[in-house]
Amino acid sequence: MQTKSCGQYKIADKEFGQLKTLIKELTGINLTEQKKMLIVARLSKRLRVLGLSSFAQYYELLTETGNSSEIIHLINRITTNKTDFFRESHHFDFLKEVVLPRFYEEGMKNGRRKLRIWSAGCSSGEEPYTIAMTLQEFFHDKTGWDVKILATDLDTEILAKARNGVYSQDIVAPIPSACLRENFKKGVGANNGLFMVKDKLKRMILFKRHNLTSEEFLLNEQIDIVFCRNVIIYFDEATKTRVINHFHDALRDDGILFLGHSESVIANDGRFKLIGNSTFCKTAP
Ligand SMILES: C[S@@+](CC[C@H](N)C(=O)[O-])C[C@H]1O[C@@H](n2cnc3c(N)ncnc32)[C@H](O)[C@@H]1O
Repeated sequence: MQTKSCGQYKIADKEFGQLKTLIKELTGINLTEQKKMLIVARLSKRLRVLGLSSFAQYYELLTETGNSSEIIHLINRITTNKTDFFRESHHFDFLKEVVLPRFYEEGMKNGRRKLRIWSAGCSSGEEPYTIAMTLQEFFHDKTGWDVKILATDLDTEILAKARNGVYSQDIVAPIPSACLRENFKKGVGANNGLFMVKDKLKRMILFKRHNLTSEEFLLNEQIDIVFCRNVIIYFDEATKTRVINHFHDALRDDGILFLGHSESVIANDGRFKLIGNSTFCKTAP
């Protein structure tokens, strides 16, 4: 029987191995030995809430057939949701100065005045709302364009936060003040210190739960731009390759893929070419 130490449960190697395999199957997230203590800390609270005395009991509960609600709790505890408004801001400069003008010019020529952007692994919404603010700024003096963002994440709790679109003062700090005034309502009374995303921005985004490692068919039209930043870093090489191939299929020819600063498409080389800082353009199929 496992014991609690300092409010935390102990985990045997076999139990860590079982959980690691289950988590990889469910999310693609590849837990290394170094993550063991972090996982124990995150899950100990859940074991306590459930009144369980060991990780063996927890694993049994998770693998009981039909226990999908506990699986959702597990996933929500395991994901790392760190994000920021205008994170890696050079991507939004590149979007505004290079990518959008190119797509705009093409659209004006060929009549496809439509733009579809996917924020894959959107966390609490800072990334899709930053994309939406950048699009607002670019399209504010242009009419007749149908511009939409699909924002997906696997974690149901973080997605609810994203949909809600309410942030504290320290979280909105990276947003330039004019942009903040334009796109957020300042809370008063009980909401003092909070900033709520305005409806005009929310209307541009569809939030949806989606697992990037699943084969579930999500899109019914081609995507122009994919943001998948700081997500595949948690996957092993085979999963990374599969997910990037999926983006290749989802993107239109010459579509753009933004990855996080330490991520690349090396294994999928030839399918994408580097055109900027961790920014890739789809090449021939
Ligand atoms: C570190 S955050 C990155 C957020 C944002 N893209 C950014 O760069 O600021 C990673 C997000 O990926 C999500 N994620 C992890 N595995 C996923 C999967 N298999 N499918 C979809 N989302 C996943 C997590 O829930 C988390 O919110």
